[in-house]
Amino acid sequence: MVGTAKKTRRTTNKDDSLAVVHGENPQVSTIIAPIVSSYNEKIRPILDAVENLRRLNIAKEGIQLPTIVVVGDQSSGKSSVLESLAGISLPRGQGICTRVPLVMRLQSHPLPNPELMLEFNGKSISTDEDNVSDAINIATDELAGNAKGISNTPLTLVVKKNGVPDLTMVDLPGITRVPVHGQPENIYDQIKDIIMEYIRPEESIILNVLSATVDFTTCESIRMSQSVDKTGLRTLAVVTKADKSPEGLLEKVTADDVNIGLGYVCVRNRIGDESYEEARIEEERLFESHPMLSKIDKSIVGVPVLAQRLVQVQGMIISKTLPEIVKKINEKLTYNLSELDKLPVNLTCVADAMTTFMHIIGLSKESLRKILLRGEFDEYPDEKNMHCTARLVDLLDSYSNHLQCFSEKEATKDFLMEEIRELQEAKLIGLPNFMPRTAFLSIHQRKVKAIAHMPIDFVHNVWEYLETVVSSVLLRHCENYYQLQVSTRRAGQSLIAKMKESSIKHVLVVVEMENLTDYTCNPEFMAEYNKLISQQDDFVKAVLDPNNNNQTFDLKGVGVIDVAHLKQYFSMLTQAFDLKGRMIAYWRIVQKRIIDSIAMHLMLSIHNLVNKDLEKEIVHDLMSPKGGGIERLLEESPSIAGKRDKLNRSVKVLQESKETVGNLMDRIGTYGD
Ligand SMILES: *[C@@H]1O[C@H](CO)[C@@H](O)[C@H](O)[C@H]1NC(C)=O
Ligand SMILES: *[C@@H]1O[C@H](CO)[C@@H](O)[C@H](O)[C@H]1NC(C)=O
Ligand SMILES: *[C@@H]1O[C@H](CO)[C@@H](O)[C@H](O)[C@H]1NC(C)=O
Ligand SMILES: *[C@@H]1O[C@H](CO)[C@@H](O)[C@H](O)[C@H]1NC(C)=O
Ligand SMILES: *[C@@H]1O[C@H](CO)[C@@H](O)[C@H](O)[C@H]1NC(C)=O
Ligand SMILES: *[C@@H]1O[C@H](CO)[C@@H](O)[C@H](O)[C@H]1NC(C)=O
Repeated sequence: MVGTAKKTRRTTNKDDSLAVVHGENPQVSTIIAPIVSSYNEKIRPILDAVENLRRLNIAKEGIQLPTIVVVGDQSSGKSSVLESLAGISLPRGQGICTRVPLVMRLQSHPLPNPELMLEFNGKSISTDEDNVSDAINIATDELAGNAKGISNTPLTLVVKKNGVPDLTMVDLPGITRVPVHGQPENIYDQIKDIIMEYIRPEESIILNVLSATVDFTTCESIRMSQSVDKTGLRTLAVVTKADKSPEGLLEKVTADDVNIGLGYVCVRNRIGDESYEEARIEEERLFESHPMLSKIDKSIVGVPVLAQRLVQVQGMIISKTLPEIVKKINEKLTYNLSELDKLPVNLTCVADAMTTFMHIIGLSKESLRKILLRGEFDEYPDEKNMHCTARLVDLLDSYSNHLQCFSEKEATKDFLMEEIRELQEAKLIGLPNFMPRTAFLSIHQRKVKAIAHMPIDFVHNVWEYLETVVSSVLLRHCENYYQLQVSTRRAGQSLIAKMKESSIKHVLVVVEMENLTDYTCNPEFMAEYNKLISQQDDFVKAVLDPNNNNQTFDLKGVGVIDVAHLKQYFSMLTQAFDLKGRMIAYWRIVQKRIIDSIAMHLMLSIHNLVNKDLEKEIVHDLMSPKGGGIERLLEESPSIAGKRDKLNRSVKVLQESKETVGNLMDRIGTYGD
């Protein structure tokens, strides 16, 4: 009887099944009394394939699978709905019973005896209807501990039973606000995290279990599903306990205040020790005869309708997402394979290591030459910091500006006062108008002292900058060779430290030379001095003229200066002005020398660094006891090994996935013909 009924349905529904597999007509809503679907034989291979993908843990590769996710507040009757669909008893008890995601894989099979199988932690445990609750509890304890905690490691229950729909769903812990005794304080957040993780992907269909006895708008599960699916396009609602709260149910599901895009199905679950067959008959009678419930359209009541609806929705979501999944698998496989190819070859002999080492040194030197000496930035087009020739000029400019600012301030501040003070102290019994050299030298030395830190700071900055550049270049070229990375970093740092020290020594010598001797052969000194001294008469006149109320004087080549304070020093003005003229003219020479000589020195140092010292230092370090010799290069770096391993695993999973879906696409293709 059942057999013939099935056969007829199969033939009449042939077109529907095609449509569902292709996702074109998901709105078929013929009601079929027994919970058995005519799609079984067609959808099963596809479900098997999806299940295989799930087993391969393809989610870890960033590929989400189409999934029906069952959510509901605590005591919404979530477990009862699943029991009714599967026709078996699930664990009951205080507090949350589902403490891990439970993947329920329902499969119709022709044998009278059901087969039940639990899969978790790589184990498969077969069980039966009487023991399945206990078995689930034991497995849950193993996954989530035997306290009342929850865990995100899924448990799979395969139910092969005559007449169940071919359906895979993930049952998640019921939402509870208040922790019961023994539950962690943040139980709500933990559950919410798990639920959100499952319902967030666009590939998930949310089966929201709502109790007819409550106001739907207050349900936590509605709040969560709405947060990821505002329009409800992938949310389906099951309303339980229709018998307990029949008043207004029709209005509730018609009004649809909570945006359930895929529609409602009202059910009455098994009560007490009814058998599932009895429960179905009771349910049918209830919706047939109850004065209020009988008004609800028959296309949205009853467990069989729910089963049918879920099978349709499942077919729809699978056919909708599968092509995308296949595409993603191929993309990721291609990408990961190319990444695997890009990993460095594992060196196996000293000759290989030597070749690699020399190659890397060559590349590093060439990179450094380009960016430090030649100003070619093709290797770092967008990294301004690595455009070294330009950045070095920036550093030099900033240093030279510093020096210039200092000189200008010195030239105009308290004009002539320093000179006057020095001249007063240098006076001695002798012929007038001889310029005392001591006065000149002591002012000069004070000025040298005041700027002595500037060139030191400058070389400091330059070497600090060069260190980052050299490290970065070496790191880039040694990226794949961990030991070489260590060695070159050490060598680079120690070499730069040495070169910095020698630069500072050089600067100190330059400063000391300037401090000791006032000499130049540069004709600019005389030119500058003559320019200033030619204004001497005008200056003295302007300061001493009693009719001149002007407080400033425009000294060409220096600027406008205050002169009011100078009237009282009339006797020394000429000599002080002369001294100032020499001072200013000579300081310009000194300043240029300090800039030029240090710039020249740095360029020589950089040249030496790139062309010989760095290589020498690296070889030296590698061959030293702490470097461990060239053989160390043969050791693969832990990070590369890890990367290779991870890629290898990913590639394996993706390849298997590809095979799995490859078969599947063939099948779907066959149906399409
Ligand atoms: C189920 O439980 C019964 C009684 O407790 C026991 O005899 C039977 O062996 C169990 N079956 C399995 C598969 O564990
Ligand atoms: C494989 O490729 C994907 C991108 O397609 C990437 O996200 C993933 O991290 C890769 N796997 C490994 C192990 O690198
Ligand atoms: C690379 O060489 C190291 C050391 O010889 C070895 O431990 C490792 O397994 C090798 N890796 C591969 C992928 O061959
Ligand atoms: C310059 O020379 C004087 C005298 O020889 C000395 O006291 C001073 O410390 C020197 N200054 C610098 C910056 O070397
Ligand atoms: C004072 O002298 C300066 C420079 O010679 C000149 O620019 C300025 O106009 C003079 N001011 C007066 C009030 O004469
Ligand atoms: C992955 O690793 C296995 C064993 O370590 C090796 O035989 C296989 O060639 C590797 N596959 C790839 C793609 O590297």
